[in-house]
Amino acid sequence: MTRLRAEDLTLAYEKRVVAERLGVQIPDGSFTVIVGPNACGKSTLLRALARLLRPREGTVYLDGDPIGALAPKRLARRLGLLPQSPLTPEGITVGDLVARGRYPHQSLLRQWSREDEAAVTEAMEAVGVTGLADRVVDELSGGQRQRVRLALVLAQRTGILLLDEPTTYLDIAHQIEVLDLCARLHEEGRTLVAVLHDLNHACRYATHLIAMRGGEVLAEGPPAEIVTAELVERVFGLPCRVIADPETATPLIVPAGRRRTLTAENL
Ligand SMILES: Nc1ncnc2c1ncn2[C@@H]1O[C@H](COP(=O)(O)OP(=O)(O)O)[C@@H](O)[C@H]1O
Ligand SMILES: [Mg+2]
Repeated sequence: MTRLRAEDLTLAYEKRVVAERLGVQIPDGSFTVIVGPNACGKSTLLRALARLLRPREGTVYLDGDPIGALAPKRLARRLGLLPQSPLTPEGITVGDLVARGRYPHQSLLRQWSREDEAAVTEAMEAVGVTGLADRVVDELSGGQRQRVRLALVLAQRTGILLLDEPTTYLDIAHQIEVLDLCARLHEEGRTLVAVLHDLNHACRYATHLIAMRGGEVLAEGPPAEIVTAELVERVFGLPCRVIADPETATPLIVPAGRRRTLTAENL
């Protein structure tokens, strides 16, 4: 049994059906990465897994229970989501936004505590935004904002984290920093599900890769076992070569050049 799984999902917005009979199982303790072309349904799937989108058919299960039956705070203590385009309350400061991650842990009887304070401090340190605590979120750069949003989800201290394009808007150094942070969270025992656009990053960091196209899962498994030039062509329509990443030996996708592939004959 896996903590988070979905069976027979039909996902749709009004008349647009994004996926039918879609099933996924997120291996416990995995760093699962979802890849696939634009508009194939990655965010839609993540939103269904986080109960932001109600499936037209099928069920998402968390710890064996249909997710629809869980009280909102209970769900938010077990599973956190970083949406692709989160809305931020106007004029809110970084510190106040990150503190909102503690809301699911509070109640009338249990108000702001030392544990809440520690969770917020730790989350802000983890993504390097401690110095921004008093700044207004709207006035930050895209990269800073993205890290603050990540801190908000981390402060929730959930065992499962769903991250929709956590590295978007970040320069390459900050992308790696965020992915290394994700890898650390994974090593500490959390289950991560991230949507990433960079296939090479996906291959480096994922323990379990899910390749989607047109609302379907075309392949899943450890990157080294499933990523081939044929798969990349089938998923993205991109001719490429797959070689070993010189740094990590994981699959490295090299898109074919515009002219012709260099071979022994035409070198
Ligand atoms: N709120 C919405 N209303 C209507 N259609 C939507 C909405 N959100 C996404 N879609 C459509 O659903 C499809 C899948 O979108 P999405 O899951 O966001 O793709 P991805 O994250 O893989 O790029 C796309 O065709 C998109 O236009
Ligand atoms: Mg998306």
